[in-house]
Amino acid sequence: MKVLIFGVNGFIGHHLTNRILNTTDWSVYGMDLGFDRLDKSLDNPRFHFLEGDISINKEWIEYHIKKCDIIMPLVAIATPKQYVEDPIGVFNLDFEMNLNIVKQCVKYHKRIVFPSTSEVYGASAEPEFKEDETFLVLGPIQKERWIYSCCKQLLDRVIYAHGTRGNLDFTLFRPFNWVGPRLDSLNTAKEGSSRVVTQFIAELLMKQPISLVDGGRQKRCFTYVNDGIDALMKILENKDNCCMNEIINIGNPDNEYSIKELASILKKLFMEHPDHKNDQEFSEIIEVSASDYYGKGYQDIYTRKPSIEKARRLLNWEPSTGLEESLKMTLYSFLEENETAHSSK
Ligand code: UGA
Repeated sequence: MKVLIFGVNGFIGHHLTNRILNTTDWSVYGMDLGFDRLDKSLDNPRFHFLEGDISINKEWIEYHIKKCDIIMPLVAIATPKQYVEDPIGVFNLDFEMNLNIVKQCVKYHKRIVFPSTSEVYGASAEPEFKEDETFLVLGPIQKERWIYSCCKQLLDRVIYAHGTRGNLDFTLFRPFNWVGPRLDSLNTAKEGSSRVVTQFIAELLMKQPISLVDGGRQKRCFTYVNDGIDALMKILENKDNCCMNEIINIGNPDNEYSIKELASILKKLFMEHPDHKNDQEFSEIIEVSASDYYGKGYQDIYTRKPSIEKARRLLNWEPSTGLEESLKMTLYSFLEENETAHSSK
């Protein structure tokens, strides 16, 4: 099988590529702007990489969509700070560029495995979000944070409509706060625009305050990337067409924690780490308002818990990694990366 991954150097892209190359005889064709996370794969004869841009390398894209069996468009801006700072950039990349790929999958009758997002459920008040039942609740237009959710939702609807009319085979998967090694780059975190786990790790390293937005009462269900990749592999295998034209949440409802709890666990793990336990000072944990931290275009989501009944039933999948273990593996990997970056300077 030939799997085509756009954004192959991204968080999900590179973890998935490693898994495919290590555990199957499939080939991966991948494109990305960079390749710093792909060192383990670059020498593999079943990995074919182009350093390129989905808005530029149109011929390569079309040729490879025709050539491959499954298409995974994983290119997207996925950090809330960027949704409020550059909503048009989010629309151009996350919506328009991906729509082009969807259209070509329709044209060449290719199966698409598309990353929807937990964000499509928005501020739904349901205790557990169900793929085929839950209302998708977004805030007003002035709250620009929702543009990402809205772009993804419309793409979900376009893909679904092609699917129900027999023009496209698809599976939509919805990751819920996946965490793990190389989640975001530490450099972007040091500039202050990463997802929460990388952001807190960067603050700990820089001895800067960890900011709890609006007190950190909001909760997320953190999912370890290896658990998520287990589910994705089953989706790619699609045994007996089990996930044909389905939407599937991939999250860990048992790992529901507040951001305040997340901050204190990460700080504790950092303070226990052999290289840091003798540090003279550690980051303090402070509270900031959402408007000071993100600006007026932001609105938060207070609870976001997946129902994974469908993933259990269709994929026979169950996440198994607890939060503390997930954070420890994530933190240790970032510390190692930071150490290597410093020692090679
Ligand atoms: C994320 C992103 O939108 C996407 O990566 C993705 O589609 C989706 O959720 C997902 O991974 O499931 P969110 O969970 O809000 O959205 O993003 P984070 O930046 O990780 O923030 C989590 C929470 O931590 C938010 O409530 C935020 O206000 C808070 N936060 C963030 C802080 O309290 N302090 C910080 O320094 C950063």
